[in-house]
Amino acid sequence: MLFEVFRTDDGSETVMQHPLGVSYHSRFGARTESEQVYLVNGLHFFTSENPGLSSVKIFEMGFGTGLNALLAAQYAQKTGIGIEYHTCELYPLPAEIYTQLYRGEAALLDPLHEAAWDKPARIHPFFTLVKYKQDLRQLDLTEVFDVVFFDAFDPDSQPDLWDYTVFEKLALAAHPGSVLTTYSSKGSVRRNLEKAAWRVEKLRGPAGKREVVRATQGCSSL
Ligand SMILES: C[S@@+](CC[C@H](N)C(=O)[O-])C[C@H]1O[C@@H](n2cnc3c(N)ncnc32)[C@H](O)[C@@H]1O
Repeated sequence: MLFEVFRTDDGSETVMQHPLGVSYHSRFGARTESEQVYLVNGLHFFTSENPGLSSVKIFEMGFGTGLNALLAAQYAQKTGIGIEYHTCELYPLPAEIYTQLYRGEAALLDPLHEAAWDKPARIHPFFTLVKYKQDLRQLDLTEVFDVVFFDAFDPDSQPDLWDYTVFEKLALAAHPGSVLTTYSSKGSVRRNLEKAAWRVEKLRGPAGKREVVRATQGCSSL
């Protein structure tokens, strides 16, 4: 497997994975995409719907560059809301690649990559990370999550990960009011989410993407 770092249109870097030829983020702006799809539509939406929360539990499909985790850790620092962030990653990026990314924030990013697998790592007083080096389909989800960042490679490259059985597994690890956000609004993705009892909304996408998705479980209060 080969990794190549490149700069996206908003100036932030991302990675291309070969031979699959898939990018970890939109070429129109990695950071812009992550901020809108996961931070604003997912985490910030959930905390706004549930004011007064002191902590949030997040599950992320695909740790990748660590950008979503980095943004969530910064959100926790800024708001004082405690975040327990669980994420799975089958093909971790080697240090020679992640040390080329987001260097202005290396002090927070590098500990995310260096954290041990399968046990909680306290990154700062408001952010705990638990990474699993496992295939999402085999991962045993024993926690209940408030927010899911569904950030697999696109459904054409990895259709198995967007199957309704995966969304059902995530629904079983959610509660009424939990939200799942993702960048793909493909018809088959929306149908598979609905089949797994997620209520789907289409939202305006970041540059280069007309629509993205937020899905909610059951009724909207905790
Ligand atoms: C779109 S990238 C994730 C980007 C990431 N969220 C970020 O902030 O950089 C998809 C990630 O899923 C990982 N992946 C691919 N197949 C997987 C699987 N079956 N289980 C777990 N992770 C997988 C890839 O290695 C890649 O890091």
